Amino acid sequence: AVGSGGTILKTARSEKFMTLKGLKTANKQLMERGIEGLIVIGGDGTFRGASEFSNLFPRPIIGIPATIDNDLYGTDFTIGYDTAINTVVEAVDKIRDTADAHNRLFIIEVMGRDAGFIALRSGIAVGAEAVLIPETKSSLNKLIERLKKGWHRQKKSSIVIVAEGDDAGGAFEVAKKVKEKFGNYDTRVSILGHIQRGGAPSCMDRVLASRLGVEAVNVLCSGKAGVMVGLVNKDQFLYTPFDKASKHHQEINKDLLQLVEVLSI
Ligand code: F6P
Repeated sequence: AVGSGGTILKTARSEKFMTLKGLKTANKQLMERGIEGLIVIGGDGTFRGASEFSNLFPRPIIGIPATIDNDLYGTDFTIGYDTAINTVVEAVDKIRDTADAHNRLFIIEVMGRDAGFIALRSGIAVGAEAVLIPETKSSLNKLIERLKKGWHRQKKSSIVIVAEGDDAGGAFEVAKKVKEKFGNYDTRVSILGHIQRGGAPSCMDRVLASRLGVEAVNVLCSGKAGVMVGLVNKDQFLYTPFDKASKHHQEINKDLLQLVEVLSI
C-alpha cells in the first residue's frame, strides 16, 4: 500500500542472490514467468547485484534509488531519506525536552555507516550544537570547545548528532571522550537505531517514489538498460550507469556544515 514501509517481495539483502546458484535460481524464476525486464529498487548493493545478474543473464534492468542514507550519485534525494530524517527530528525534539529540563548534554547516534546525510540535515533541523559525520575529520577538541562556549553562555542543553560511521567513534565513545575532558554537563547517550528505517513514508518520499517509479517504467519501455533513474535540480530526470551511481557518493554540501556552526553559536 502507498502508506506502508518495508518490502513485500522480501528480496532485500538476500544472501542466496550473492551466490551463483542463487543467481541461476532467480533467472529460472524469471524465465518461467516470462519476465523480460526488471526494475530494482535499492542502494549500491542492489545495483551491484543487478549489474552482475545482467552480465550473466542479459535482460534490461533499470534502478530506482532507495536508501535512508541518501548516499547515491545521480539523484538529489533517495527514497526513504526524507522519512528517516523526519523520524530523527521528531525523536530529537522529544529528547530536547529532557535535555532542557535537566541541563543535559545528549550525544545522539543516527544511522549512516558510511554517510553523514541523515546526521547533517536532521542536525540542522533540530538546532544541534554539533554534527559529526564520516565525510569530514572530526575534532574532539573543537567539539569540546564548542560545548564549553555553550555552557559558559548558560545554554540550557546541548545536542550532538553523531553519524554511526563517524571517525571519532559511535555516540558512547564520543560521550566518554567528552566527559573525560569536560565533565560539567550531565551527559546521556541515545542511539536512535532502526526506528529510522521504517514507518509510513513522508509526503516527499511518496511523491518522489511515484515520479521515479513511472519514469523507470518509461525508460525500460524505451529500451534503455543498466541505469539508475534519479531526479536532480528538483525536476530533471537523470540516468546514471549503475557502477557510477553506487561507487560515487554524492558530495556533502559544505554550506550545510557551515550552517550548523553558524546556528549553534
Ligand atoms: O543501508 C545502510 C544503513 O541504512 C546504514 O546507515 C545502517 O547502518 C544500516 O543500514 C543498518 O543496517 P542493519 O539493519 O543491517 O543494522
